Amino acid sequence: MRSAKRNKAGGASVSRSKLSRGIQGRPNRTRILRRPFVTATFAMTVDGKITTRTFSPVDFTSREDKLHLFRQRALADAVLIGHSTLKRDNVRLGLPAELQKARIKRGQNRCPLRVIISNEGRIDNRLNIFQSDISPILIFSTRRMPRKYQEALKKKATLHLSDAEHVNLAAMLHTLRDRYKIRTVACEGGPTLFRSLLERGLVDRLNLTIAPYMFGGAKAPTLTGLSKEFLPASVHCALIDMRVVGEECFLTYRIKRQRRRPS
Ligand SMILES: NC(=O)c1ccc[n+]([C@@H]2O[C@H](COP(=O)([O-])OP(=O)(O)OC[C@H]3O[C@@H](n4cnc5c(N)ncnc54)[C@H](OP(=O)(O)O)[C@@H]3O)[C@@H](O)[C@H]2O)c1
Repeated sequence: MRSAKRNKAGGASVSRSKLSRGIQGRPNRTRILRRPFVTATFAMTVDGKITTRTFSPVDFTSREDKLHLFRQRALADAVLIGHSTLKRDNVRLGLPAELQKARIKRGQNRCPLRVIISNEGRIDNRLNIFQSDISPILIFSTRRMPRKYQEALKKKATLHLSDAEHVNLAAMLHTLRDRYKIRTVACEGGPTLFRSLLERGLVDRLNLTIAPYMFGGAKAPTLTGLSKEFLPASVHCALIDMRVVGEECFLTYRIKRQRRRPS
């Protein structure tokens, strides 16, 4: 049976660059960026699809899987989501009452901090997430966010806007750790965001539910999205837990350090 224990990891480290090496090749501790421990949770079909080609919300998993997602969310200090998943699934990222109570008993806030990632920043402030005040919302985006969106969103969330073209995910995680004291992050996708995190070595654990369906179709995204490109390096996953409930398989992988590019 899979353990639902809270991660013991107090966080992980991101080496900023080769410049962060000391004179004898040892990492210079002062220049290592600390980041939270990142766990991603996804469900996919037997043929590896995480949704259909229309990207419309599709309900292909059991009640047990939905509870599993809630439990993973409840373990984290913050929950992370990409703009497209937020928009398409229109989720609040809250928790059932009993999981809120359990968090309070453990000395946590009743729900994890909610974190939205968007490069363009055209996020609709009428989405369900902004209608609920269960926990603070942070938005990491860029100055490409149009002024009228900034005005509307800053009434509902804290905006972190960078001058760069794209959100720097390592810096975002560092900010969560440093400024908000976030030690564990539950990433709920989608695949574009997950792939970006993976490419930068910023995922530590993957929970994957295999649901008993096949969708087919080259235009339906897999776990790493629709990109035809290889990942910059193959990502080695170590299976650390497996649980079968009904017709679904619940897998947990530890994401190992990156190896050479696949051929
Ligand atoms: N089966 C599952 O477990 C599961 C889980 C999650 C999602 N899904 C499905 O996945 C679909 C959405 O997939 P998706 O790949 O389009 O979703 P996504 O990763 O949630 O969203 C992509 C958007 O997020 C922002 N984003 C992603 N990576 C970023 C980065 N590195 N820096 C800055 N912004 C970044 C960008 O927003 P802007 O365009 O605003 O710049 C980008 O367009 C939905 O149909 C959803 O239902 C399935």
